[in-house]
Amino acid sequence: MVRSMAVAKLGVVYTPREVTRPMVERALGPLVAGKTPSEILALRVCDFAIGEGAFLVEIVRFLAAAHGGRDAKRLVAAHCLHGADIDPGAVATARAVVEAFAGAPIPELATHLRTGDALALAWPAFDAVIGNPPYIRQEKLAPAQKRALRTFESYDGVADLYVYFLELAHRLLRPGGRYCVVVPTKWLTAAYARPLRAFLARAGSVEQIEELAPTAFATADAFPCIVSGATCTVVDRPLSGARPIGGLRDRSCATVDRPLSGEPWHLDDREDARILAGWERFPKLGEMLVPSRGVVTGCNRAFVISRETRERLVAAEPACEAWIRPFLKGRDVRRWNAEPSERYLLVHERGVVPPKVLRAHLAPLRAALEPGSGRKPGSYQWYELQDPVGALAKSVAPRLFYQDIQTAPACSLDRDGFVPDTTVWILESEDPFVQAVLNSRLYAWYARRRFPPALNGAVRPKREYMMNLPLPRPAAALRARIAKLVAAQLARPAAERDRELDALICRAYGVSASLIT
Ligand SMILES: C[S@@+](CC[C@H](N)C(=O)[O-])C[C@H]1O[C@@H](n2cnc3c(N)ncnc32)[C@H](O)[C@@H]1O
Repeated sequence: MVRSMAVAKLGVVYTPREVTRPMVERALGPLVAGKTPSEILALRVCDFAIGEGAFLVEIVRFLAAAHGGRDAKRLVAAHCLHGADIDPGAVATARAVVEAFAGAPIPELATHLRTGDALALAWPAFDAVIGNPPYIRQEKLAPAQKRALRTFESYDGVADLYVYFLELAHRLLRPGGRYCVVVPTKWLTAAYARPLRAFLARAGSVEQIEELAPTAFATADAFPCIVSGATCTVVDRPLSGARPIGGLRDRSCATVDRPLSGEPWHLDDREDARILAGWERFPKLGEMLVPSRGVVTGCNRAFVISRETRERLVAAEPACEAWIRPFLKGRDVRRWNAEPSERYLLVHERGVVPPKVLRAHLAPLRAALEPGSGRKPGSYQWYELQDPVGALAKSVAPRLFYQDIQTAPACSLDRDGFVPDTTVWILESEDPFVQAVLNSRLYAWYARRRFPPALNGAVRPKREYMMNLPLPRPAAALRARIAKLVAAQLARPAAERDRELDALICRAYGVSASLIT
């Protein structure tokens, strides 16, 4: 859920006004244009998850201004306002907040603002639906509630609850009714939202999708976007550019040229969309390589040791050496070569009993290592790593590493048998072209447009996204030039060679280097 700014009076928590005001304008502006005061009072507007009334107040403010008459706030609140919340305390607060704003008791709110599950209530038809629905992961939903969700066309067994509220907005609207909701941006690409995207594509209702800066809300990990539109019968309604709201990311315009479907939707400007469409002829990284994660120990303070400890353990029992490998964390990954801090990992795999010296070393932490008490429940021994160790994680062959959260391109070649932790992705490759791509500014350009965002402008190159990375096959001469420069960078990185490589990678992708300057 995205909420912000506690308002001292009545302890109300509002979606910030910088967000509610333009959302209300977007939904209601076209509905009030040219209307008489009595026509305005005939409008029915619903917030399906009212919380403590942030949108309700804004709706009253907007409609009262459009009405313009005496007592307008009280009149529109009594006639136009509808909503629900599952939390009776929130509903009571919302009523009080609206009455305080209108400056009068409003008996209609006792029936118009209801307590209940908005997805299960019987609703009349509305002219507009506005709101910030709950964001609740499916594993937190009660089994009965999950069963009820199967009636939605957007149903997916692992979809977050907000998905159903987007469809609910459509169910609640009369034909031509308008909606404006703020939801996590994830639905544009997440696999669980494929049925929702297909539903919205069929509905042909979306007019605008606008990404908000993560800082738009106090809980910064939601990466919200505002979705607005109108129910209609026209199926191929084009998406239009969005009017900027303060704090927007730079890509705020939704331009989708091809017909929308259940496939991921991307918010590209026209020029970017043209470039990215051109790359669809290239093979994808996933056709050659499958990224794999590093190890999960479940307790780094037990399994990660210093050089001194390693030396002591090996001196006590030379057989320990085979169990101890150099260790790398995501933060040690750099462009070209990693910069490891001298740490080592006890690679205690499932089903193989490590030397006594190593078990004795771990014994003081046994309570913290037992499955289900200190670590995740499972069928492993207290002295074993929590999750099975992947073949690539423990391989001693040269491999490429990159971070699971990237603030800038960084891909290092490992030739020393490092075992990375779970903050590192591994590619079974030492291909200089692949490494040059993953270290290039053009890759950063692509990642910003295709990978899920993380905090502070970073991206998360999750497996399915990285597997979609277009990887051209450059001509032999270009490939050889790139390989030579990469070899030089691995020996001794130099900034001017990075610039040269950036230009060559642009050439391999068939784009002008001006794209990344
Ligand atoms: C993100 S908050 C938004 C509140 C308010 N609209 C705002 O912007 O400040 C979501 C609200 O949804 C309510 N909620 C959760 N599940 C619900 C459901 N199934 N039906 C209706 N409301 C629900 C929560 O109690 C919470 O008040």
